[in-house]
Amino acid sequence: MASFTPSDAEQELETEVCIRQTQCFIGGEWVPAQSGKTFETIDPATEEVIATIAEGDQADVDAAVRAAREAFDNGPWPRMDARERGRLMHRLCDLIEDEIDELAALETLDNGKPLADSRKIDIPLALATLRYYAGWADKIHGQTIPVAGNYFSYTRREPVGVAGQIIPWNFPILMVSWKWGPALAAGCTIVMKPAEQTPLTCLRLARLAQKAGIPDGVINVVPGFGPTAGAAIVKHPGIDKVAFTGSGETAQVIMRQAADGLKRLTFELGGKSPNIVFADADLAAAAQGAHVGIHLNQGQCCCAGSRLFVEDAIYDEFVAKVVEMSRVRRVGDPFDPATEQGPQVDQAQFDKIMGYIEKGKAEGATCATGGSRHGDLGYFIEPTVFTEVTDDMAIAREEIFGPVLSVLRFKDTDELVRRANATSFGLAAAVWTRDVAKAHDIAHRLRAGTVWVNCYDVFDPAAPFGGFKQSGFGRELGERGLDPYLETKTVTVSMS
Ligand code: NAI
Ligand code: MG
Repeated sequence: MASFTPSDAEQELETEVCIRQTQCFIGGEWVPAQSGKTFETIDPATEEVIATIAEGDQADVDAAVRAAREAFDNGPWPRMDARERGRLMHRLCDLIEDEIDELAALETLDNGKPLADSRKIDIPLALATLRYYAGWADKIHGQTIPVAGNYFSYTRREPVGVAGQIIPWNFPILMVSWKWGPALAAGCTIVMKPAEQTPLTCLRLARLAQKAGIPDGVINVVPGFGPTAGAAIVKHPGIDKVAFTGSGETAQVIMRQAADGLKRLTFELGGKSPNIVFADADLAAAAQGAHVGIHLNQGQCCCAGSRLFVEDAIYDEFVAKVVEMSRVRRVGDPFDPATEQGPQVDQAQFDKIMGYIEKGKAEGATCATGGSRHGDLGYFIEPTVFTEVTDDMAIAREEIFGPVLSVLRFKDTDELVRRANATSFGLAAAVWTRDVAKAHDIAHRLRAGTVWVNCYDVFDPAAPFGGFKQSGFGRELGERGLDPYLETKTVTVSMS
Protein backbone atom coordinates (compact mmCIF):
# COMPACT_ATOMS: atom_id res chain seq x y z
CA MET A 1 0.00 0.00 0.00
CA ALA A 2 1.40 3.36 -0.95
CA SER A 3 0.46 6.61 0.66
CA PHE A 4 0.98 10.05 -0.72
CA THR A 5 2.48 13.05 1.03
CA PRO A 6 0.37 16.01 0.09
CA SER A 7 1.98 19.18 -1.20
CA ASP A 8 1.41 22.41 0.76
CA ALA A 9 -1.26 23.50 -1.68
CA GLU A 10 -3.05 20.24 -1.25
CA GLN A 11 -2.88 20.42 2.53
CA GLU A 12 -4.60 23.77 2.34
CA LEU A 13 -7.51 22.00 0.70
CA GLU A 14 -7.39 19.44 3.53
CA THR A 15 -7.38 16.48 1.21
CA GLU A 16 -5.59 13.27 1.94
CA VAL A 17 -4.83 10.55 -0.51
CA CYS A 18 -4.65 7.02 0.74
CA ILE A 19 -4.44 4.27 -1.83
CA ARG A 20 -6.42 1.31 -0.66
CA GLN A 21 -7.31 -0.72 -3.75
CA THR A 22 -4.59 -1.95 -6.10
CA GLN A 23 -5.73 -5.49 -6.92
CA CYS A 24 -8.22 -7.06 -9.31
CA PHE A 25 -11.82 -6.96 -8.12
CA ILE A 26 -13.44 -10.23 -9.14
CA GLY A 27 -16.68 -11.71 -7.79
CA GLY A 28 -16.52 -9.40 -4.78
CA GLU A 29 -12.95 -10.42 -3.85
CA TRP A 30 -9.76 -8.37 -4.06
CA VAL A 31 -7.18 -10.63 -5.64
CA PRO A 32 -3.70 -10.31 -7.13
CA ALA A 33 -3.21 -11.11 -10.81
CA GLN A 34 -2.89 -14.88 -11.23
CA SER A 35 0.49 -14.36 -12.88
CA GLY A 36 1.62 -12.39 -9.83
CA LYS A 37 2.61 -9.54 -12.14
CA THR A 38 2.18 -5.88 -11.29
CA PHE A 39 2.66 -2.57 -13.09
CA GLU A 40 3.35 0.92 -11.84
CA THR A 41 1.03 3.89 -12.08
CA ILE A 42 2.78 7.23 -12.21
CA ASP A 43 2.05 10.74 -10.98
CA PRO A 44 2.41 12.71 -14.24
CA ALA A 45 3.27 15.92 -12.37
CA THR A 46 6.34 14.42 -10.67
CA GLU A 47 7.02 11.30 -12.79
CA GLU A 48 7.13 9.37 -9.50
CA VAL A 49 5.56 5.97 -8.97
CA ILE A 50 2.34 6.25 -6.97
CA ALA A 51 1.56 2.56 -6.50
CA THR A 52 1.97 -0.86 -8.04
CA ILE A 53 -1.19 -2.39 -9.45
CA ALA A 54 -2.14 -5.99 -10.22
CA GLU A 55 -1.47 -6.60 -13.92
CA GLY A 56 -4.45 -8.65 -15.03
CA ASP A 57 -4.39 -10.69 -18.21
CA GLN A 58 -6.40 -13.46 -19.81
CA ALA A 59 -6.55 -15.70 -16.72
CA ASP A 60 -7.92 -12.86 -14.60
CA VAL A 61 -10.38 -11.85 -17.30
CA ASP A 62 -11.55 -15.49 -17.43
CA ALA A 63 -12.22 -15.40 -13.70
CA ALA A 64 -13.94 -12.03 -13.95
CA VAL A 65 -16.17 -13.24 -16.80
CA ARG A 66 -17.09 -16.36 -14.80
CA ALA A 67 -18.15 -14.14 -11.90
CA ALA A 68 -20.05 -11.72 -14.15
CA ARG A 69 -21.70 -14.59 -16.04
CA GLU A 70 -22.82 -16.26 -12.79
CA ALA A 71 -24.13 -12.92 -11.48
CA PHE A 72 -26.05 -12.39 -14.71
CA ASP A 73 -27.28 -15.93 -15.37
CA ASN A 74 -28.20 -16.89 -11.81
CA GLY A 75 -27.71 -13.89 -9.54
CA PRO A 76 -30.21 -11.39 -8.21
CA TRP A 77 -29.14 -8.31 -10.21
CA PRO A 78 -31.11 -8.70 -13.46
CA ARG A 79 -34.04 -10.25 -11.59
CA MET A 80 -34.48 -7.92 -8.65
CA ASP A 81 -37.14 -5.25 -8.41
CA ALA A 82 -35.84 -2.57 -10.76
CA ARG A 83 -36.49 0.05 -8.10
CA GLU A 84 -34.04 -1.75 -5.84
CA ARG A 85 -31.37 -1.58 -8.56
CA GLY A 86 -31.95 2.15 -8.75
CA ARG A 87 -31.76 2.45 -4.98
CA LEU A 88 -28.39 0.67 -4.82
CA MET A 89 -27.05 2.94 -7.55
CA HIS A 90 -28.15 5.99 -5.56
CA ARG A 91 -26.47 4.48 -2.51
CA LEU A 92 -23.21 4.22 -4.48
CA CYS A 93 -23.59 7.92 -5.31
CA ASP A 94 -24.08 8.76 -1.63
CA LEU A 95 -20.81 6.96 -0.81
CA ILE A 96 -19.01 8.81 -3.61
CA GLU A 97 -20.31 12.11 -2.21
CA ASP A 98 -19.12 11.17 1.29
CA GLU A 99 -15.54 10.94 0.06
CA ILE A 100 -15.65 13.34 -2.85
CA ASP A 101 -12.57 15.30 -1.72
CA GLU A 102 -10.44 12.21 -1.36
CA LEU A 103 -11.61 10.81 -4.69
CA ALA A 104 -10.86 14.13 -6.38
CA ALA A 105 -7.33 14.09 -4.96
CA LEU A 106 -6.82 10.48 -6.07
CA GLU A 107 -8.00 11.35 -9.59
CA THR A 108 -5.66 14.33 -9.76
CA LEU A 109 -2.73 12.33 -8.42
CA ASP A 110 -3.14 9.59 -11.02
CA ASN A 111 -4.21 11.68 -14.02
CA GLY A 112 -2.63 15.10 -13.42
CA LYS A 113 -5.77 17.15 -13.99
CA PRO A 114 -6.21 20.20 -11.73
CA LEU A 115 -7.80 19.30 -8.40
CA ALA A 116 -10.49 21.93 -8.94
CA ASP A 117 -11.48 20.19 -12.20
CA SER A 118 -11.65 16.77 -10.54
CA ARG A 119 -13.69 18.19 -7.68
CA LYS A 120 -15.96 20.60 -9.55
CA ILE A 121 -16.33 19.12 -13.04
CA ASP A 122 -15.50 15.42 -13.30
CA ILE A 123 -16.99 14.00 -10.12
CA PRO A 124 -20.17 16.11 -10.09
CA LEU A 125 -20.85 15.09 -13.69
CA ALA A 126 -20.13 11.45 -12.86
CA LEU A 127 -22.57 11.63 -9.94
CA ALA A 128 -25.20 13.28 -12.12
CA THR A 129 -24.76 10.51 -14.69
CA LEU A 130 -25.05 7.66 -12.19
CA ARG A 131 -28.10 9.27 -10.58
CA TYR A 132 -29.69 9.92 -13.97
CA TYR A 133 -29.38 6.24 -14.87
CA ALA A 134 -30.46 5.15 -11.39
CA GLY A 135 -33.67 6.96 -12.26
CA TRP A 136 -34.01 4.95 -15.47
CA ALA A 137 -33.75 1.56 -13.74
CA ASP A 138 -37.53 1.28 -13.17
CA LYS A 139 -38.56 3.07 -16.35
CA ILE A 140 -37.30 0.60 -18.93
CA HIS A 141 -40.24 -1.04 -20.65
CA GLY A 142 -41.52 -2.31 -23.97
CA GLN A 143 -44.58 -1.60 -26.07
CA THR A 144 -47.74 -3.37 -27.14
CA ILE A 145 -47.83 -3.81 -30.92
CA PRO A 146 -51.06 -3.91 -32.93
CA VAL A 147 -50.15 -6.86 -35.21
CA ALA A 148 -52.55 -8.31 -37.84
CA GLY A 149 -54.76 -11.27 -36.93
CA ASN A 150 -55.87 -12.61 -33.59
CA TYR A 151 -52.61 -12.15 -31.80
CA PHE A 152 -51.39 -10.14 -28.88
CA SER A 153 -47.86 -8.89 -29.41
CA TYR A 154 -45.65 -6.97 -27.06
CA THR A 155 -41.98 -6.17 -26.61
CA ARG A 156 -39.76 -6.56 -23.58
CA ARG A 157 -36.45 -4.77 -23.09
CA GLU A 158 -34.04 -7.23 -21.55
CA PRO A 159 -30.43 -6.69 -20.48
CA VAL A 160 -27.89 -7.69 -23.13
CA GLY A 161 -25.89 -9.74 -20.62
CA VAL A 162 -22.27 -9.35 -19.54
CA ALA A 163 -20.81 -6.06 -20.73
CA GLY A 164 -17.07 -5.71 -21.32
CA GLN A 165 -16.10 -2.08 -20.81
CA ILE A 166 -12.72 -0.64 -21.76
CA ILE A 167 -12.06 2.96 -20.83
CA PRO A 168 -9.31 5.56 -21.36
CA TRP A 169 -7.36 7.72 -18.95
CA ASN A 170 -8.58 11.23 -19.79
CA PHE A 171 -11.70 11.18 -17.57
CA PRO A 172 -11.28 8.09 -15.40
CA ILE A 173 -14.17 8.58 -12.93
CA LEU A 174 -16.46 10.15 -15.49
CA MET A 175 -15.90 7.29 -17.95
CA VAL A 176 -16.74 4.78 -15.20
CA SER A 177 -20.06 6.55 -14.70
CA TRP A 178 -20.85 6.68 -18.42
CA LYS A 179 -20.22 2.95 -18.66
CA TRP A 180 -21.61 1.64 -15.36
CA GLY A 181 -24.69 3.91 -15.31
CA PRO A 182 -26.62 2.51 -18.29
CA ALA A 183 -25.28 -1.05 -17.84
CA LEU A 184 -26.40 -1.24 -14.20
CA ALA A 185 -29.76 0.38 -14.87
CA ALA A 186 -30.40 -2.15 -17.65
CA GLY A 187 -29.55 -5.08 -15.36
CA CYS A 188 -26.29 -6.06 -17.05
CA THR A 189 -23.20 -7.25 -15.23
CA ILE A 190 -19.78 -5.80 -15.96
CA VAL A 191 -16.14 -6.65 -16.60
CA MET A 192 -14.25 -3.36 -16.78
CA LYS A 193 -10.67 -2.60 -17.68
CA PRO A 194 -9.52 0.86 -16.64
CA ALA A 195 -6.67 2.50 -18.54
CA GLU A 196 -3.20 1.42 -17.41
CA GLN A 197 -2.31 5.09 -16.81
CA THR A 198 -5.17 5.70 -14.35
CA PRO A 199 -6.46 2.62 -12.55
CA LEU A 200 -6.79 4.05 -9.03
CA THR A 201 -10.18 5.74 -8.92
CA CYS A 202 -11.92 2.97 -10.86
CA LEU A 203 -10.71 0.47 -8.26
CA ARG A 204 -11.86 2.74 -5.44
CA LEU A 205 -15.30 3.07 -7.05
CA ALA A 206 -15.55 -0.73 -7.25
CA ARG A 207 -14.97 -0.83 -3.49
CA LEU A 208 -17.68 1.79 -2.96
CA ALA A 209 -20.08 -0.19 -5.15
CA GLN A 210 -19.42 -3.21 -2.96
CA LYS A 211 -20.04 -1.13 0.17
CA ALA A 212 -23.25 0.16 -1.37
CA GLY A 213 -24.52 -3.40 -1.55
CA ILE A 214 -24.33 -3.99 -5.29
CA PRO A 215 -24.12 -7.81 -5.33
CA ASP A 216 -20.80 -9.58 -5.83
CA GLY A 217 -20.00 -10.35 -9.45
CA VAL A 218 -22.09 -7.51 -10.86
CA ILE A 219 -19.07 -5.23 -11.19
CA ASN A 220 -15.65 -6.75 -11.84
CA VAL A 221 -12.52 -4.72 -12.52
CA VAL A 222 -9.38 -6.13 -14.13
CA PRO A 223 -6.60 -3.55 -14.37
CA GLY A 224 -3.93 -4.21 -16.98
CA PHE A 225 -2.82 -3.44 -20.50
CA GLY A 226 -4.78 -3.30 -23.76
CA PRO A 227 -3.24 -6.08 -25.82
CA THR A 228 -3.49 -8.55 -22.88
CA ALA A 229 -6.37 -7.78 -20.48
CA GLY A 230 -8.24 -5.60 -23.00
CA ALA A 231 -7.97 -8.12 -25.84
CA ALA A 232 -9.04 -10.94 -23.50
CA ILE A 233 -12.27 -9.05 -22.76
CA VAL A 234 -12.91 -8.42 -26.45
CA LYS A 235 -12.38 -12.07 -27.45
CA HIS A 236 -14.07 -13.75 -24.50
CA PRO A 237 -17.10 -15.84 -25.56
CA GLY A 238 -18.74 -15.14 -22.19
CA ILE A 239 -18.99 -11.42 -22.93
CA ASP A 240 -22.04 -10.27 -24.87
CA LYS A 241 -21.17 -6.68 -25.61
CA VAL A 242 -18.10 -4.45 -25.63
CA ALA A 243 -18.19 -0.72 -24.98
CA PHE A 244 -14.96 1.09 -25.75
CA THR A 245 -13.74 4.65 -25.49
CA GLY A 246 -10.32 5.48 -26.90
CA SER A 247 -8.43 5.70 -30.17
CA GLY A 248 -9.70 4.77 -33.61
CA GLU A 249 -6.68 2.51 -34.17
CA THR A 250 -7.51 0.42 -31.11
CA ALA A 251 -11.21 0.38 -32.11
CA GLN A 252 -10.23 -1.18 -35.44
CA VAL A 253 -8.29 -3.92 -33.64
CA ILE A 254 -11.24 -4.49 -31.31
CA MET A 255 -13.72 -4.66 -34.19
CA ARG A 256 -11.67 -7.32 -35.95
CA GLN A 257 -11.19 -9.34 -32.78
CA ALA A 258 -14.85 -9.10 -31.84
CA ALA A 259 -15.95 -10.41 -35.25
CA ASP A 260 -15.64 -14.10 -34.34
CA GLY A 261 -18.16 -13.80 -31.54
CA LEU A 262 -20.27 -11.22 -33.44
CA LYS A 263 -20.10 -9.07 -30.34
CA ARG A 264 -22.22 -6.00 -30.02
CA LEU A 265 -19.95 -2.97 -30.10
CA THR A 266 -20.19 0.66 -29.18
CA PHE A 267 -17.30 3.00 -29.79
CA GLU A 268 -16.66 6.51 -28.60
CA LEU A 269 -13.53 7.65 -30.42
CA GLY A 270 -11.63 10.74 -31.30
CA GLY A 271 -12.30 13.95 -33.12
CA LYS A 272 -10.98 17.05 -34.81
CA SER A 273 -13.93 19.17 -33.94
CA PRO A 274 -14.55 22.47 -35.74
CA ASN A 275 -15.28 25.48 -33.53
CA ILE A 276 -16.68 28.15 -35.85
CA VAL A 277 -16.72 31.86 -34.99
CA PHE A 278 -18.69 34.25 -37.19
CA ALA A 279 -18.05 37.99 -37.17
CA ASP A 280 -21.51 38.64 -35.68
CA ALA A 281 -20.82 36.53 -32.54
CA ASP A 282 -20.39 37.75 -28.98
CA LEU A 283 -16.63 37.75 -29.39
CA ALA A 284 -15.75 37.78 -25.69
CA ALA A 285 -17.89 34.69 -25.10
CA ALA A 286 -16.58 33.04 -28.26
CA ALA A 287 -12.97 33.63 -27.21
CA GLN A 288 -13.68 32.05 -23.85
CA GLY A 289 -15.35 29.13 -25.65
CA ALA A 290 -12.40 28.74 -28.00
CA HIS A 291 -9.99 28.77 -25.05
CA VAL A 292 -11.85 26.27 -22.89
CA GLY A 293 -12.84 24.24 -25.95
CA ILE A 294 -9.23 23.38 -26.67
CA HIS A 295 -7.50 23.56 -23.29
CA LEU A 296 -9.96 21.88 -20.93
CA ASN A 297 -8.34 18.79 -19.40
CA GLN A 298 -4.93 19.66 -20.90
CA GLY A 299 -6.50 19.28 -24.36
CA GLN A 300 -7.12 15.60 -23.68
CA CYS A 301 -10.76 15.66 -24.74
CA CYS A 302 -12.28 13.59 -27.53
CA CYS A 303 -14.51 16.57 -28.35
CA ALA A 304 -11.80 19.26 -28.09
CA GLY A 305 -12.48 22.21 -30.40
CA SER A 306 -9.12 21.74 -32.05
CA ARG A 307 -9.92 23.43 -35.39
CA LEU A 308 -10.88 27.03 -34.71
CA PHE A 309 -12.44 28.55 -37.86
CA VAL A 310 -12.53 32.35 -37.62
CA GLU A 311 -14.33 34.61 -40.10
CA ASP A 312 -11.91 36.74 -42.07
CA ALA A 313 -13.42 40.11 -41.02
CA ILE A 314 -12.57 39.56 -37.33
CA TYR A 315 -9.61 37.20 -37.67
CA ASP A 316 -6.82 39.41 -36.36
CA GLU A 317 -8.75 40.95 -33.48
CA PHE A 318 -10.28 37.66 -32.36
CA VAL A 319 -7.17 35.55 -32.70
CA ALA A 320 -5.20 38.09 -30.66
CA LYS A 321 -7.67 37.58 -27.78
CA VAL A 322 -7.41 33.80 -27.95
CA VAL A 323 -3.62 33.87 -28.12
CA GLU A 324 -3.43 36.15 -25.10
CA MET A 325 -5.70 33.86 -23.05
CA SER A 326 -3.44 30.89 -23.82
CA ARG A 327 -0.35 32.92 -23.02
CA VAL A 328 -1.51 33.70 -19.48
CA ARG A 329 -3.07 30.31 -18.72
CA ARG A 330 -1.60 29.05 -15.45
CA VAL A 331 0.27 25.77 -15.88
CA GLY A 332 1.65 23.94 -12.87
CA ASP A 333 1.10 21.76 -9.79
CA PRO A 334 -2.37 20.30 -10.25
CA PHE A 335 -2.92 20.43 -6.48
CA ASP A 336 -2.41 24.22 -6.45
CA PRO A 337 -5.86 25.85 -6.46
CA ALA A 338 -4.59 28.55 -8.86
CA THR A 339 -3.57 26.01 -11.50
CA GLU A 340 -5.63 25.85 -14.69
CA GLN A 341 -3.55 23.29 -16.57
CA GLY A 342 -1.69 20.27 -15.25
CA PRO A 343 0.62 17.81 -16.99
CA GLN A 344 -0.29 15.50 -19.88
CA VAL A 345 -1.04 12.00 -18.66
CA ASP A 346 2.21 10.25 -19.60
CA GLN A 347 5.44 10.30 -21.57
CA ALA A 348 3.83 8.77 -24.67
CA GLN A 349 1.15 11.47 -24.87
CA PHE A 350 3.74 14.15 -24.13
CA ASP A 351 5.95 12.88 -26.98
CA LYS A 352 3.02 12.63 -29.40
CA ILE A 353 1.95 16.22 -28.72
CA MET A 354 5.48 17.63 -28.91
CA GLY A 355 5.85 15.79 -32.23
CA TYR A 356 2.75 17.58 -33.59
CA ILE A 357 4.08 20.93 -32.36
CA GLU A 358 7.30 20.32 -34.29
CA LYS A 359 5.27 19.26 -37.34
CA GLY A 360 3.16 22.44 -37.16
CA LYS A 361 6.30 24.56 -37.10
CA ALA A 362 7.87 22.59 -39.95
CA GLU A 363 4.70 22.81 -42.05
CA GLY A 364 4.82 26.60 -41.87
CA ALA A 365 2.04 27.47 -39.42
CA THR A 366 2.73 30.43 -37.12
CA CYS A 367 3.31 29.38 -33.51
CA ALA A 368 1.70 32.45 -31.89
CA THR A 369 2.21 31.30 -28.30
CA GLY A 370 3.58 28.26 -26.46
CA GLY A 371 5.27 25.58 -28.49
CA SER A 372 7.56 24.15 -25.81
CA ARG A 373 7.73 21.98 -22.77
CA HIS A 374 6.82 23.76 -19.53
CA GLY A 375 9.45 23.25 -16.81
CA ASP A 376 11.75 20.24 -16.71
CA LEU A 377 9.90 17.79 -14.49
CA GLY A 378 6.54 16.22 -15.27
CA TYR A 379 4.75 16.03 -18.60
CA PHE A 380 3.81 19.72 -18.81
CA ILE A 381 3.34 21.48 -22.15
CA GLU A 382 2.77 25.19 -22.74
CA PRO A 383 -0.69 26.11 -24.04
CA THR A 384 0.00 26.43 -27.75
CA VAL A 385 -1.80 28.29 -30.54
CA PHE A 386 -0.93 27.92 -34.21
CA THR A 387 -2.34 30.60 -36.51
CA GLU A 388 -2.53 30.74 -40.31
CA VAL A 389 -3.05 26.98 -40.36
CA THR A 390 -4.21 25.51 -43.68
CA ASP A 391 -6.49 22.51 -44.17
CA ASP A 392 -3.79 20.23 -45.56
CA MET A 393 -1.46 20.49 -42.53
CA ALA A 394 -1.22 17.52 -40.14
CA ILE A 395 -2.14 19.81 -37.22
CA ALA A 396 -5.43 20.59 -39.03
CA ARG A 397 -6.25 16.97 -39.85
CA GLU A 398 -5.04 14.69 -37.06
CA GLU A 399 -6.09 14.42 -33.44
CA ILE A 400 -3.32 15.89 -31.27
CA PHE A 401 -5.04 15.32 -27.90
CA GLY A 402 -3.12 18.09 -26.20
CA PRO A 403 -3.19 21.84 -25.52
CA VAL A 404 -2.58 22.76 -29.16
CA LEU A 405 -5.05 24.89 -31.11
CA SER A 406 -5.06 25.22 -34.90
CA VAL A 407 -6.64 28.45 -36.15
CA LEU A 408 -8.02 28.57 -39.69
CA ARG A 409 -9.50 31.49 -41.61
CA PHE A 410 -12.77 31.46 -43.60
CA LYS A 411 -14.78 33.86 -45.76
CA ASP A 412 -17.67 32.09 -47.48
CA THR A 413 -20.23 30.12 -45.41
CA ASP A 414 -20.83 27.24 -47.86
CA GLU A 415 -17.10 26.82 -48.27
CA LEU A 416 -16.76 26.84 -44.47
CA VAL A 417 -19.30 24.02 -44.04
CA ARG A 418 -17.51 21.95 -46.67
CA ARG A 419 -14.16 22.45 -44.94
CA ALA A 420 -15.54 21.83 -41.45
CA ASN A 421 -16.99 18.52 -42.68
CA ALA A 422 -13.87 17.53 -44.65
CA THR A 423 -12.60 15.18 -41.94
CA SER A 424 -13.02 11.50 -41.18
CA PHE A 425 -14.19 12.49 -37.68
CA GLY A 426 -17.62 13.72 -36.60
CA LEU A 427 -17.84 13.91 -32.84
CA ALA A 428 -18.63 17.53 -32.01
CA ALA A 429 -18.73 21.05 -33.41
CA ALA A 430 -19.64 24.55 -32.28
CA VAL A 431 -21.02 27.66 -33.95
CA TRP A 432 -20.80 31.18 -32.56
CA THR A 433 -23.19 33.76 -34.06
CA ARG A 434 -26.01 36.07 -32.97
CA ASP A 435 -28.02 35.12 -36.07
CA VAL A 436 -30.46 32.43 -34.92
CA ALA A 437 -31.37 31.17 -38.38
CA LYS A 438 -27.71 30.89 -39.39
CA ALA A 439 -26.91 29.03 -36.16
CA HIS A 440 -29.56 26.37 -36.79
CA ASP A 441 -28.73 26.13 -40.48
CA ILE A 442 -25.05 25.46 -39.80
CA ALA A 443 -25.89 23.14 -36.88
CA HIS A 444 -28.00 21.00 -39.24
CA ARG A 445 -25.37 20.92 -41.97
CA LEU A 446 -22.45 19.88 -39.77
CA ARG A 447 -21.82 16.12 -39.73
CA ALA A 448 -21.24 15.71 -36.00
CA GLY A 449 -22.94 13.98 -33.07
CA THR A 450 -23.08 17.14 -30.96
CA VAL A 451 -23.28 20.77 -32.07
CA TRP A 452 -22.97 23.50 -29.50
CA VAL A 453 -24.33 26.95 -30.36
CA ASN A 454 -22.75 29.86 -28.50
CA CYS A 455 -21.29 27.48 -25.93
CA TYR A 456 -18.78 24.63 -25.73
CA ASP A 457 -18.35 21.46 -23.68
CA VAL A 458 -21.84 21.66 -22.22
CA PHE A 459 -22.61 18.11 -21.10
CA ASP A 460 -25.69 16.73 -19.46
CA PRO A 461 -26.44 13.09 -18.63
CA ALA A 462 -29.82 13.44 -20.35
CA ALA A 463 -28.35 14.56 -23.70
CA PRO A 464 -26.96 11.80 -25.97
CA PHE A 465 -23.30 11.98 -26.97
CA GLY A 466 -21.39 10.10 -29.66
CA GLY A 467 -19.88 10.22 -33.08
CA PHE A 468 -20.74 10.41 -36.74
CA LYS A 469 -18.28 8.82 -39.16
CA GLN A 470 -15.02 7.53 -37.62
CA SER A 471 -15.74 9.13 -34.26
CA GLY A 472 -17.64 6.01 -33.31
CA PHE A 473 -21.02 4.41 -33.25
CA GLY A 474 -23.78 4.07 -30.74
CA ARG A 475 -24.63 6.81 -28.29
CA GLU A 476 -23.85 7.28 -24.63
CA LEU A 477 -25.91 9.31 -22.16
CA GLY A 478 -29.61 10.04 -22.38
CA GLU A 479 -32.28 7.47 -23.12
CA ARG A 480 -30.32 6.44 -26.26
CA GLY A 481 -27.43 5.48 -24.00
CA LEU A 482 -29.47 2.58 -22.63
CA ASP A 483 -30.01 1.01 -26.06
CA PRO A 484 -26.64 -0.73 -26.34
CA TYR A 485 -27.27 -2.50 -23.03
CA LEU A 486 -30.74 -3.78 -23.97
CA GLU A 487 -32.11 -6.40 -26.32
CA THR A 488 -35.65 -6.03 -27.61
CA LYS A 489 -37.69 -9.22 -27.39
CA THR A 490 -41.02 -9.60 -29.18
CA VAL A 491 -43.56 -11.92 -27.54
CA THR A 492 -46.53 -12.86 -29.71
CA VAL A 493 -49.45 -14.77 -28.18
CA SER A 494 -52.27 -16.44 -30.11
CA MET A 495 -55.60 -15.21 -28.78
CA SER A 496 -57.64 -17.94 -30.43
P1 NAI B 1 -6.02 3.47 -26.64
O1 NAI B 1 -7.24 3.49 -27.48
O2 NAI B 1 -4.94 2.54 -27.07
O3 NAI B 1 -6.41 3.10 -25.12
C1 NAI B 1 -7.68 3.23 -24.56
C2 NAI B 1 -8.04 1.97 -23.76
O4 NAI B 1 -8.02 0.84 -24.63
C3 NAI B 1 -7.05 1.66 -22.64
O5 NAI B 1 -7.75 1.10 -21.55
C4 NAI B 1 -6.15 0.61 -23.28
O6 NAI B 1 -5.51 -0.23 -22.35
C5 NAI B 1 -7.16 -0.17 -24.11
N1 NAI B 1 -6.58 -0.94 -25.22
C6 NAI B 1 -5.46 -0.67 -25.93
N2 NAI B 1 -5.24 -1.62 -26.85
C7 NAI B 1 -6.25 -2.51 -26.74
C8 NAI B 1 -6.58 -3.74 -27.41
N3 NAI B 1 -5.82 -4.23 -28.38
N4 NAI B 1 -7.69 -4.41 -27.04
C9 NAI B 1 -8.47 -3.93 -26.06
N5 NAI B 1 -8.21 -2.80 -25.37
C10 NAI B 1 -7.11 -2.09 -25.72
O7 NAI B 1 -5.49 4.96 -26.55
P2 NAI B 1 -4.09 5.53 -25.94
O8 NAI B 1 -2.96 4.73 -26.48
O9 NAI B 1 -4.23 5.68 -24.49
O10 NAI B 1 -4.08 6.97 -26.61
C11 NAI B 1 -3.75 7.13 -27.99
C12 NAI B 1 -4.59 8.22 -28.60
O11 NAI B 1 -5.96 7.82 -28.60
C13 NAI B 1 -4.60 9.55 -27.88
O12 NAI B 1 -3.48 10.32 -28.20
C14 NAI B 1 -5.87 10.15 -28.38
O13 NAI B 1 -5.68 10.71 -29.66
C15 NAI B 1 -6.80 8.96 -28.51
N6 NAI B 1 -7.67 8.81 -27.32
C16 NAI B 1 -8.98 9.18 -27.42
C17 NAI B 1 -9.80 9.12 -26.31
C18 NAI B 1 -11.23 9.52 -26.37
O14 NAI B 1 -11.77 9.97 -25.37
N7 NAI B 1 -11.91 9.33 -27.48
C19 NAI B 1 -9.29 8.71 -25.00
C20 NAI B 1 -7.91 8.29 -25.00
C21 NAI B 1 -7.16 8.37 -26.13
MG1 MG C 1 -1.10 7.62 -13.41
